[in-house]
Amino acid sequence: MNILLTGGLGFIGSHTAAVLAGEGHEVVIIDNLCNSQRQTLGSLEMIAGKKFPFYEGDVRDLTLVKSILQDHQIECVIHFAGLKSVAESGVDPLKYFDNNVGGSITLMEAMQAANVKKLIFSSSATVYGIPQYLPYDEEHPLSPMNVYGRTKLQVEEILQDLSRSDPDWSIVCLRYFNPIGAHESGLIGELPQGIPNNLMPYICQVVSGKLPHLNVFGDDYDTKDGTGERDYIHVMDLAEGHAAALAFTRDHKGWEAINLGTGIPYSVYDLINAFEKSAKQAIPKMVKERRSGDLPIYFAKVEKAKNLLNWEAKRDLQLMCDSSWKYQQGAKR
Ligand code: NAD
Ligand code: WQD
Repeated sequence: MNILLTGGLGFIGSHTAAVLAGEGHEVVIIDNLCNSQRQTLGSLEMIAGKKFPFYEGDVRDLTLVKSILQDHQIECVIHFAGLKSVAESGVDPLKYFDNNVGGSITLMEAMQAANVKKLIFSSSATVYGIPQYLPYDEEHPLSPMNVYGRTKLQVEEILQDLSRSDPDWSIVCLRYFNPIGAHESGLIGELPQGIPNNLMPYICQVVSGKLPHLNVFGDDYDTKDGTGERDYIHVMDLAEGHAAALAFTRDHKGWEAINLGTGIPYSVYDLINAFEKSAKQAIPKMVKERRSGDLPIYFAKVEKAKNLLNWEAKRDLQLMCDSSWKYQQGAKR
């Protein structure tokens, strides 16, 4: 199929581009490089052994997006382009609504005009909010606790209304849990700018000597070892989940939300222990106050993805850490 990846040079988009190209799809990328680098395109082309048509541009540019859809006879769009910092979204909400919600609406308009009606959207487990029960299934009430999460929920709702208005649409909202890890080649991975907010990139920078120690945000939660527990998923499993969702859209019409996780929660200390094995060194750490807005534990119910997409995560926590460390050792930033 001819597929457009918005935000295709970012962390999840680049791994998905590698998987889809490996399956023989024609992948076109648009990215404004606000949180990625052009060099990722070269790395992707080394992995795939072929060139990708690339547009440095913004999904809010209606004319550009329409012309890409038409020129490349795109059949499905995978919409990764978005801003993802929870902290920044609280400081600058309009920037987040403009980019994440406004960008998605412009993309939908372009798709409607070009008669492209298959869309896979990068949503997030953050749409669920405080767990009423665990694991979160897709019917769990939706009540995001931050602006970033509200942008994701708003786009999901707009997409649902769009599919109600025109039964030709096939829309899949994939609710990712905590993606970490990197491509097995070590050529692409997560490339955060500045000091990372998230646990895995922070650990990588501590182990490579760029940061002095890891701050463990709270060891007094009601969890197995007192630290926060999350459903970490290898980014290559996540990428393969997109390939499965793409296959699903061939015969599907309507709107679906589907969790992509492993269903297994790991604590901060589990991740530290696994990473210490990968890097063969101890990670200096200091226990700090809980981070505001953090939940103690959440993880996915994964049956819907198994049933509808015939997909489940295969890679374990050690492989997530091994691949992140391999990428970090080769990464230049
Ligand atoms: P990322 O920042 O690495 O990738 C996003 C890409 O989109 C970047 O390359 C950025 O330059 C580009 N982009 C942003 N706004 C754009 C715009 N207006 N026009 C064109 N390009 C634009 O993030 P990621 O981790 O790969 O996440 C991809 C998507 O998945 C995002 O929508 C994110 O909100 C969502 N998501 C991520 C996580 C996670 O933990 N990484 C979890 C759940 C959901
Ligand atoms: C994981 C655990 C922290 C950093 C975020 C977004 C979520 C989604 C994924 C996009 C928690 C602890 C962290 C550190 C620590 N993104 N931690 N020291 O918060 O689960 O999810 O990314 O949709 O919306 O909120 O991920 O990696 O930041 O934290 O102890 O330096 O690690 O307290 O328990 P989080 P995270």
